[in-house]
Amino acid sequence: MTDLISHPDTLSRSAAIDAARPICRVPHDPALVASLADQFRNADPFPHVVLDDVLTIPFDEVARAFPDPDWPSWAKWEDHYQAEKRYCGNFSAMPELMQRIIAELSQPAFLGFLEQISDIPALMPDPYLEGGGLHSSGAGGILAPHTDFHLLQRLNLYRQINIILYLNEHWEEDWGGCLGLYRKGDKEPTRVVVPSFGRMVIFRTDHNSVHGFAVPVAPGHRRNSIALYYYTAQDSEEFGGDTTTYWHQHGDLSARGKVQLALHQRLLGLSTMVSKAAHRLNPHVGNFRTSTKK
Ligand SMILES: [Fe+2]
Repeated sequence: MTDLISHPDTLSRSAAIDAARPICRVPHDPALVASLADQFRNADPFPHVVLDDVLTIPFDEVARAFPDPDWPSWAKWEDHYQAEKRYCGNFSAMPELMQRIIAELSQPAFLGFLEQISDIPALMPDPYLEGGGLHSSGAGGILAPHTDFHLLQRLNLYRQINIILYLNEHWEEDWGGCLGLYRKGDKEPTRVVVPSFGRMVIFRTDHNSVHGFAVPVAPGHRRNSIALYYYTAQDSEEFGGDTTTYWHQHGDLSARGKVQLALHQRLLGLSTMVSKAAHRLNPHVGNFRTSTKK
């Protein structure tokens, strides 16, 4: 990734982008960073901040670079928890501008900023972009409210921070697709983040951080974003060894579906108890269960 920054001639497609100028604004003023850390720590319903105008480039540049819905490198989710969602975590397949944004957000300046506002030391990016990378949801798309997997089995690291950078020129709240941050157990979000261009939401991810967009994207719109996750080698104080995405809302279900869901939740609860016990016995091995990533 570093080569993309130190050898800007690899950015052959867009001469309009100043290769020497960072694409992402990383706050560095100590007073501002301290203020953001305070916001993060005290945010409701869980630690987060929302930054605007993160990108130094105009929307048109991003729009030209962001892949169309028929791009062959998209992967698709087909389940109803993530309807109409395309995603790509394959860094080498991405357009160079997307690579450069991800590279900047994986380098020490941004990692240090995240560490300062979250008070979590030794954060690192995931070079494999497991569950992250480019996301795009079309009309009817949702992301059911959930808490994330915590253990990245591939690297045996613990997920601590999510960032989502929105790449839509303009967005109205009634177009759906707005990120909701929920108190655990609530049906309605405590905070709604409209996915407008250059806005970045940064949030702590753990078993209390319920997030998603339950209102479908309206016809005629696509919700595009970059999602990146940051990890530590050190586990959280609270149990973090689980590899499962837990869905907290499930839409309208038939009577049979409700019974199946209740059974599924009971089994997941049992599975989590087993995972916790296994984690206590051996904190450095977390290969308990097949991952269902988000
Ligand atoms: Fe998530």
